[in-house]
Amino acid sequence: MNKYLLDVYNPFTVEFLYGKGSTLFDKKRKDYIDFTSGIGVNCLGHGNKKLVETISKQAKKFIHLSNIYPIKTQKECAKKVAVLSGYKNMQGFFCNSGAEANEAAIKFIRKYAKNKGIKKHNIITLENSFHGRTLATLNATGQKDKQLGFEPFPNEFIYAKDLEDIKNKINKNSVAVMLELIQGEGGIKAFDKKELQNLNNYLKEKDVLFVVDEIQTGIYRTGEFLASNFFELKPDIITMAKGLAGGLPIGLMMTNKKNIFKKGDHGSTFGGNPLCTKTAVEVLNILEEKYKAKKIQNTIGLFQKELENILKKNKKLFSSKSGIGLMLGLKLKEEKKLQSLLEICLKNQVLVLKSGKDIVRFLPALNISKEEIKLGFKRFQKSLDELK
Ligand SMILES: Cc1ncc(COP(=O)(O)O)c(C=O)c1O
Repeated sequence: MNKYLLDVYNPFTVEFLYGKGSTLFDKKRKDYIDFTSGIGVNCLGHGNKKLVETISKQAKKFIHLSNIYPIKTQKECAKKVAVLSGYKNMQGFFCNSGAEANEAAIKFIRKYAKNKGIKKHNIITLENSFHGRTLATLNATGQKDKQLGFEPFPNEFIYAKDLEDIKNKINKNSVAVMLELIQGEGGIKAFDKKELQNLNNYLKEKDVLFVVDEIQTGIYRTGEFLASNFFELKPDIITMAKGLAGGLPIGLMMTNKKNIFKKGDHGSTFGGNPLCTKTAVEVLNILEEKYKAKKIQNTIGLFQKELENILKKNKKLFSSKSGIGLMLGLKLKEEKKLQSLLEICLKNQVLVLKSGKDIVRFLPALNISKEEIKLGFKRFQKSLDELK
């Protein structure tokens, strides 16, 4: 516990000094293979030369400008996202985090509902979802244990058990369904493509907005630019954050619905500032090049092959593997082993994450090297051998 910090996190004891690629170094210069990328944020690893150059060049011009002046890089970034996603008919709002992007979406949905004349609207989310920690996004998060103690909430959310149940829950006041296509915090659960497409069509028929939370799944995490592209969906609203600016704080809410927000309806002091949006454009340019050269796909292939080997060799410990692209999980047969496994991994210098109660989660940088993957999994296997 720190005298000057509120005690909301439970960090490991290792303190890192610097990172290079997907390797972090502690005070004693011990190296750690990073399979976490800051929970899916550092998509180009640590100390990427091009990013560092872009950041320092932009910082010399200006770091921040208020949104009361036009910000060129914001327009460039929104256009780049629209072009890469193929959802060209979208307009975006920039903010600073995932929760803020979802907050923007919730405000937008409220305005949309008012315009439609729905007085007591509702938004449907899933019981096991995760959409953020602000009051509205925590309320959208269908996990009761996370909400406990922070009531009262806006209370416009209805929780469905699964995709099929969403259809049962829709009523005349339903304006939107908000969904992660692969649940990140809720256990690396990817939904079925056909089921998602059916839901998408059903929502169009019912005139209910399809809101896709791509905060963890977006920015090539699945191998495609967005998981919505991977599953070939047509969402009305998409939210992004995490990897978009390679580590700088950024959030983006995009929608194809026009003329809902009017001037003054929403805003953010830092949202879309020149430093973050210029960096995001650079991240997207670099990743687009890697995608075209099939480098991301090759990295996914290699990483998944190693993970498959781990599963084969450790059938006693793990029951299954889940996820898509570089958003992957291994399900432990005994959930009580999860925390000690994370600690042994840290001791053996490989960093992994947890998800839900029994999943070891892997969210490596999209440019993690072959050597780092091999070494990381060697250390991971060593950790499994030591796990009692
Ligand atoms: C799917 C999803 N939505 C929203 C959030 C919240 O993002 P942030 O922590 O940037 O507010 C997260 C964070 O993990 C997430 O995974």
